Amino acid sequence: MDFIIDIVGRFHPLVVHLPIGFLFLGALMIFYSGNEDKYLPIMRFSFFWGAISTLLALITGFVQYNQEGYAWEDIQNHLIFGIIVLIIAVTIYLNLKRIFFVGFKSRKILVYFLILSLIITGHLGGNLTHGKDHLTAPLPDNFKAILGVDYPIKKIELDRVTYRSQSLYQAIVQPVFNAKCISCHSPKKKKGELVLIDYPSIMNGGEGGSLFSKADPEQSLLLKRIHLPLEDEKHMPPKAKVQLTKSENVLLSRWIAHGAPKEASIEALKIEEELFASFFEKNPTGIYPDISIAPAENEVLKALKKKGFFISPIYKTSPLLKISCINYHDFNDLSAQSLLPIKEHIVSLDLGKTKVTDSVFRVIQKLPNLTVLKLDNTKINGSQIELLSQLKNLKEINLVNTDFEIHNLTKMYNFPTIKKVNLFNLKKQFNSNLKIPDSLKSVFLLQYYELEKLDTDSVVY
Ligand code: HEC
Repeated sequence: MDFIIDIVGRFHPLVVHLPIGFLFLGALMIFYSGNEDKYLPIMRFSFFWGAISTLLALITGFVQYNQEGYAWEDIQNHLIFGIIVLIIAVTIYLNLKRIFFVGFKSRKILVYFLILSLIITGHLGGNLTHGKDHLTAPLPDNFKAILGVDYPIKKIELDRVTYRSQSLYQAIVQPVFNAKCISCHSPKKKKGELVLIDYPSIMNGGEGGSLFSKADPEQSLLLKRIHLPLEDEKHMPPKAKVQLTKSENVLLSRWIAHGAPKEASIEALKIEEELFASFFEKNPTGIYPDISIAPAENEVLKALKKKGFFISPIYKTSPLLKISCINYHDFNDLSAQSLLPIKEHIVSLDLGKTKVTDSVFRVIQKLPNLTVLKLDNTKINGSQIELLSQLKNLKEINLVNTDFEIHNLTKMYNFPTIKKVNLFNLKKQFNSNLKIPDSLKSVFLLQYYELEKLDTDSVVY
């Protein structure tokens, strides 16, 4: 007959809505009737059934607590406020029945308390079924911080330059547990007697003993639970919760295969970069290539700066560099050689106002990641610019105020990634017979490019 009790308990979430309805209606009538008992019979009716249904809610709630294994400290306040609601509802009912009379004003104060208790009870009950953060969960994190609500750090972010030196456990394993497991596996909740909040607690294991199996890592309790089919009751995290991503899954397996070390770095464990791709900040590189390379050596950079190069990374921790010769006016085709030790790091190169000629392209063509090239105010005429056609990242070239000869423009038609070539203010006159293909017209910006004549051009205003 146990199942009947079980079912009674399960009616609690339904029954609780009745007192809310009856008691709110009764409260409204008390406010509306002012200092007379306009709706007396209906008010009595409302509070009578309000009290009865509150009692029912308390009984079903208590049964549910007993049957479904809630922790006492989790439900006690909800229960206490439920009892307070019952006491106030009964008091108001007796008052309406004239068993005793307290005066209109005091009755209204009682009604305020009733509503307050109802709201608190309902809110605490909601927290039990939907989780403590049910109301605040949709707020942005900074709002939650202001309200003092603690929020799980959901997003795992790695720095693509330095992540290899971090320990796999610190960088991935614990953050994954924090985001997806500890809502049920903390010292407070401890489902399956398992706590996952830090390394020692993870090593302690749960009801079923250690989470790890040295002999056969794939048979580890932790992996077994994660790899069970989603439908399986024992699958972790439970079906209704946010699941592990594929790479999180693989990384946990790798971690366990390596013996679940605390300190071992990602580098030492030799784990492929692809598995971390989803944790990297989304393309912070802008128009520059999204690659990860080891940073240039400090000594090399120091020497270059001494020569007069201005060097800055594209963002603080990036190994990709912007180089400018803004203070290095003697820079010439030969000096360009000195950039070769950092040829992979250079994504933007500003040679404006320097002494370079077209020979410099022999060096520049060796900068595989070059994206932006500035050659304004130089003697470049384009005679060798075709050398740049092998650059797979080159998007912008600035040729403002140069000796560029416009017939050399055709050499750039097959540049694979070119987006913008600025050709304003060329020193040499050019013939206007040049026919740029339609698809490239927006790439080459020519100040003197003659627009087709429109009829409206001759209108005199
Ligand atoms: C919604 C709550 C919830 C979440 C979230 C959750 N678990 Fe559990 N977990 C449970 C419950 C309940 C049990 C005990 C019942 C059982 O063994 O299935 C359990 C048991 C386990 C056990 C077995 C412990 C033992 O020793 O028997 C493991 C391992 C486990 N969980 C791992 C995880 C991992 C890893 C995550 C996160 C990826 C996770 N759980 C997320 C509720 C949860």
